[in-house]
Amino acid sequence: MSSQAETQDPTSGVGSAPVTDGTRTPTERRVDVVGRPVPDFPVPAPLDTHGPGRIIAMCNQKGGVGKTTTTINLGATLAEYGRRVLLVDFDPQGAASVGLGVNPHELDRTVYNLLMERGADIHEVLVGTDIEGLDLLPANIDLSAAEVQLVGEVARESVLSRVLRPVVDDYDVILVDCQPSLGLLTVNALTAAHGVLIPLECEFFALRGVALLVETIEKVRDRLNPRLEVDGILATMFDSRTLHSREVVARVHEAFGDTLFHTVIGRTVKFPDASVAAEPITVYAPSHPGAQAYRQLARELIARGDAA
Ligand SMILES: Nc1ncnc2c1ncn2[C@@H]1O[C@H](COP(=O)(O)OP(=O)(O)OP(=O)(O)O)[C@@H](O)[C@H]1O
Ligand SMILES: [Mg+2]
Repeated sequence: MSSQAETQDPTSGVGSAPVTDGTRTPTERRVDVVGRPVPDFPVPAPLDTHGPGRIIAMCNQKGGVGKTTTTINLGATLAEYGRRVLLVDFDPQGAASVGLGVNPHELDRTVYNLLMERGADIHEVLVGTDIEGLDLLPANIDLSAAEVQLVGEVARESVLSRVLRPVVDDYDVILVDCQPSLGLLTVNALTAAHGVLIPLECEFFALRGVALLVETIEKVRDRLNPRLEVDGILATMFDSRTLHSREVVARVHEAFGDTLFHTVIGRTVKFPDASVAAEPITVYAPSHPGAQAYRQLARELIARGDAA
């Protein structure tokens, strides 16, 4: 990534107007990158009680669109706001685990064991992270076998739902980081979920494949999980210097209306840098606009009623 990408005006979702609270005068009207007025997303009130958790699947079969980055950083910012958060790594690559400083390849037991072994105890597989309020259900390459092994199971689509049931009441939000496919593991995530969050990279082919994703979500809703809804589409890797990025977001807005979050995540090397450091950006660079953007996303999600 070029250093130029780092020096751009790093947007956290709001066109040319200031982004962070407190930096604008009362007369300035904030608009997002498609020109919609941005409501104030208040800092959420602390919670007195916790759970039951709302399960959100981070889903897009296209690779490298920011699913894992969003899972980690939305999880970390929700935890900053006092939410109890569980991240479920549901990708055999284990990127969410690695990104939180856990080496999943050294672990004997992961989400794979919970899927395949009846009676395995989820409490023995959960790990804490350095972020207060944020726990992880790790995954490693073992999970790649599950896709094939689950095929012969009874109710093979609802195995993750069963795995999560004992801990749902302990968390306010459970984020499932899906792998880039629409296979059985992703269908399990959609069957367990209340909502789907779709990250879309702001580049030319972003919308390609989204129709298939939406079709899959609708099938799962019809056949397996009537409560499933699309919580929102998140534009990621937005480059405010290019007309192109704006055009992509405008097309997404045309196609999906207000399903598109106001919050947009800017493109910045701080995200890969934070992954290398195995930290959320909120720890690696707490005041960076990228961290602010994920804080705003957490507040927007809570304001929409899609997280406690
Ligand atoms: N806003 C951003 N700006 C710049 N780079 C980013 C941004 N978000 C994510 N990245 C980088 O892009 C790469 C892909 O991101 P990420 O791993 O989150 O995508 P993914 O959808 O989970 O990928 P996969 O489909 O392989 O699981 C990573 O190197 C990540 O650090
Ligand atoms: Mg990923």
